[in-house]
Amino acid sequence: MNEPSLSALLPPYRILLLGYGHVAQAFLPLLASRSEWLSSKLGARLVISGIGTRSTGYYIHPRGIDAATLALETHPFQRFAESSTRMESAEAFIQEGSARNANALIELTTLDPRSGQPALTYIRLALQRSLHVITANKGPVAHAQFELQELAHRHHVQFRFESTVMDGLPVINLSEYTLQAVGIQSFRALLNTTTGIVLRMIEQGYTLEEAISQAQRIGVAEADPWYDLDGWDAAMKTTILANTLMDGQLTPDLVEREGIRNLSLDGICAAALAGTPIRLVSTAHREHGLLIAEVRPQPLDTGDILHMGLGTGGLLSLETEAMGTITLIEHDTLPTQTAYGVLSDLIAVIRQSKHYL
Ligand SMILES: NC(=O)c1ccc[n+]([C@@H]2O[C@H](COP(=O)([O-])OP(=O)(O)OC[C@H]3O[C@@H](n4cnc5c(N)ncnc54)[C@H](OP(=O)(O)O)[C@@H]3O)[C@@H](O)[C@H]2O)c1
Repeated sequence: MNEPSLSALLPPYRILLLGYGHVAQAFLPLLASRSEWLSSKLGARLVISGIGTRSTGYYIHPRGIDAATLALETHPFQRFAESSTRMESAEAFIQEGSARNANALIELTTLDPRSGQPALTYIRLALQRSLHVITANKGPVAHAQFELQELAHRHHVQFRFESTVMDGLPVINLSEYTLQAVGIQSFRALLNTTTGIVLRMIEQGYTLEEAISQAQRIGVAEADPWYDLDGWDAAMKTTILANTLMDGQLTPDLVEREGIRNLSLDGICAAALAGTPIRLVSTAHREHGLLIAEVRPQPLDTGDILHMGLGTGGLLSLETEAMGTITLIEHDTLPTQTAYGVLSDLIAVIRQSKHYL
């Protein structure tokens, strides 16, 4: 008889996956490919207990299916749904999942920049039910970061959101663990991938529609791409960065926002020809103690540090008291990057939960 594998002997770590779009579909195989590592390093056997989406329904499995097994299926969602119980709503899904001892909710639903809803309600409910929550959704974080962190603290769970800014690049976790006392005075950044792709393609002679289609095809555009082009996505990220890195108390409406909607195609091409291509720039700095954050299109000349971010997924340049300028560049921006940020948050959650046991 074969010996059971190490992971089969471990207790399950149960995950509810809310939203099954580009990021979730990249996350599941990534999780599966790291399952042995997670077993041996963290003593965790990752099990999917529930998957739900708005149009296809919310499903809870009686025992949960090992992430590694589920990821091998040709149609994981259908396979999961076939052997699961359908819940009437996302709220019922979270409640039933929690009643069946789920450990964490991974929230990957669509962005609503104006209110962060309904994801904000889902996250509140999960935290109140003592589930750890990991999200890549900027809306709830930009609108209610401190409320949600406080709620998590009260319920002895964690609320993590690394992927909300620059995908898997460790910006939030870097600030939490390493840059705490560095004294960040200001930042300038290119945070929105879709506008970078669109402006670059227009400079190369493509139409706006062709450029948006390309961003959608690779899975980086928001469900409504105008949330990218009108600067909403960047304003959400700027809010999160200003609050996390610079002790701000901003909400998205306090970020001055101008998108690229009103730029003329001729103006975009002329700026690129002159060697100063236009990109959507996020900034934050203090003036007389007041935190000022902005998102607007700016021409970037060759002496500008943001020029290094042209052709990349994004760039964040921090001005700090203790270390001068620190610049982070994200080279690729596929949904796998975002999925990795979710995985890194999950690892942090499991590690810290074990630490406090
Ligand atoms: N894609 C990226 O590169 C990236 C990078 C960083 C952050 N993010 C963020 O990550 C999140 C997911 O992105 P994505 O690209 O995976 O989005 P997506 O492909 O548009 O998928 C969104 C998923 O959420 C589900 N959903 C939407 N509203 C829902 C609701 N009210 N209740 C339950 N499920 C709901 C959708 O289900 P239906 O299809 O059934 O409506 C779909 O399964 C977004 O908040 C996005 O801003 C994405």
